[in-house]
Amino acid sequence: MILDGSEASAIERAAAALAAGELVAMPTETVYGLAARADDDGAVARIFAAKGRPADHPLIVHVATPDAADRFAAEMPPLARRLAQAFWPGPLTLIVKRREGLAAAAAGGQDTVGLRCPSHPVAQALLTAAARLGVPGVAAPSANRFGRISPTRAAHVADEFGDTLLVLDGGACEVGIESSIVDCSRGHPVLLRPGILPVERLEAVAGEPLRAPDALAPRASGTLEAHYAPRARLRLMDGPRLKAALEVLGNSPPRLALYSRTVVPGRASGIVHRTMPSSPEAAAHELFAALRDLDAQGVPLIWVEAPPAGSEWDGVRDRLTRAAAA
Ligand code: TXA
Ligand code: MG
Repeated sequence: MILDGSEASAIERAAAALAAGELVAMPTETVYGLAARADDDGAVARIFAAKGRPADHPLIVHVATPDAADRFAAEMPPLARRLAQAFWPGPLTLIVKRREGLAAAAAGGQDTVGLRCPSHPVAQALLTAAARLGVPGVAAPSANRFGRISPTRAAHVADEFGDTLLVLDGGACEVGIESSIVDCSRGHPVLLRPGILPVERLEAVAGEPLRAPDALAPRASGTLEAHYAPRARLRLMDGPRLKAALEVLGNSPPRLALYSRTVVPGRASGIVHRTMPSSPEAAAHELFAALRDLDAQGVPLIWVEAPPAGSEWDGVRDRLTRAAAA
């Protein structure tokens, strides 16, 4: 059931459901999340069951204010404090050592916890209302079934989970791809997942380069190769290769969708075409909805033009690369 998240009565109802240990889908500025109170292992277990996600994959805990993060953290190292100060509320998740005895299920058994303070007004209103009912934070993975495309509209969530789930409608998510994740628990910052925040901006605040995850990095579903997959097979090619591939197809192309910035199919080709926006922010904003739309056309193949070089495209490139690996 989809409720208008701008209505106070909907927020109260969703907050009460969270307090009672039930699931609620909430909009955030990145993607929609499937939320349960983080301090209740039974409630968190419902998330894993609904998503079909392995229980050892840690979830992000969302809090209403930066201060509320201290409830879950054993300590916030100076690096995490600086990043939180600069980017919260916003599309950044920080991994820190977890306070013992709290949110064990949400953390997937790790001794760390992922924390994020989202900026979406509906998420803010929900987290604040839930906090008044004694909910210190909510665990929320993206509200999609395991391995599938993250939802950026209330209708996407309803498509995945059906009518019984309470979904707060907060419109189309502004960022459109999941938060950047920086692990602050190892003495040096590690970028576990790129998002919309350019790495240079994160490094300027961190005061040192962000490292890439090594073999010791915790298992993260967003870092599994095959993730964010549409049903169609997705191929990622740079402009010249894509052009050449289309030329080879000639006048009798297979059923195919094309999502590209610079390459345009011949008008008579019958190829389903959608133009990728030329700015990384606009491309991220519509990426998952575009892949869902193209997928819904029932084509067996989606050919995508690779984003240009440049760190501002890292988040979009990362999601497309994983979708192509599925
Ligand atoms: O933008 C987002 O982050 C969205 C919205 C709903 O906030 N959430 C999201 O959650 O993308 P999910 O579960 O789909 O991805 C969470 C990622 C996973 O890759 C998970 O492994 C990683 O965060 N993660 C969470 N806690 C962690 C921890 N303690 N250590 C390492 N990675 C962690
Ligand atoms: Mg996800």
